[in-house]
Amino acid sequence: MAISENRRSFMGFAFGAVAAVGGAFSLVAFKKTWDPLPSVKAAGFTTVDLSGMQTGELRTIEWRKKPIFILKKDESMPKDEKRDVIVDNVAYTLVIGLCTHLGCIPAYIQSEQMFKCACHGGEFNINGVNVFGPPPRPLEIPPFKIDGTKLVLGEEGPEYLKIKTEA
Ligand code: FES
Repeated sequence: MAISENRRSFMGFAFGAVAAVGGAFSLVAFKKTWDPLPSVKAAGFTTVDLSGMQTGELRTIEWRKKPIFILKKDESMPKDEKRDVIVDNVAYTLVIGLCTHLGCIPAYIQSEQMFKCACHGGEFNINGVNVFGPPPRPLEIPPFKIDGTKLVLGEEGPEYLKIKTEA
């Protein structure tokens, strides 16, 4: 009796161990499928290396299922001392790409240096500030921390806290 109970509990343990290992492999496979490049995700944080960006380039990445616009400004683009994110002496616009009216994703119109929302005609300037239509406030800036030439989205670094209190 005691032997068969021991066997049963061993079988249960063995099955549980196999299931756990299988689950771990599935998670690894799942993560590989969904990880977008060049960002690296971990526990709600997304690290983006900006060193390869061209001047004037807009990059859209995903953070916590939201589109994030990162625009590396060129000299012709107006600066915004309160909202610009300065990484390696270069100014970036960093915003969550969801219209502050009803949440549509605005398009970046490079020729006009504007973000335009097709849903109800809202417009944001190159700094993400609402300048026309129904949006009640600027595009939000996601929490970030600067780590060399990288941005860690989801972490509240001193630069983010400064923008949050001043903008
Ligand atoms: S959702 Fe963008 S203007 Fe209405």
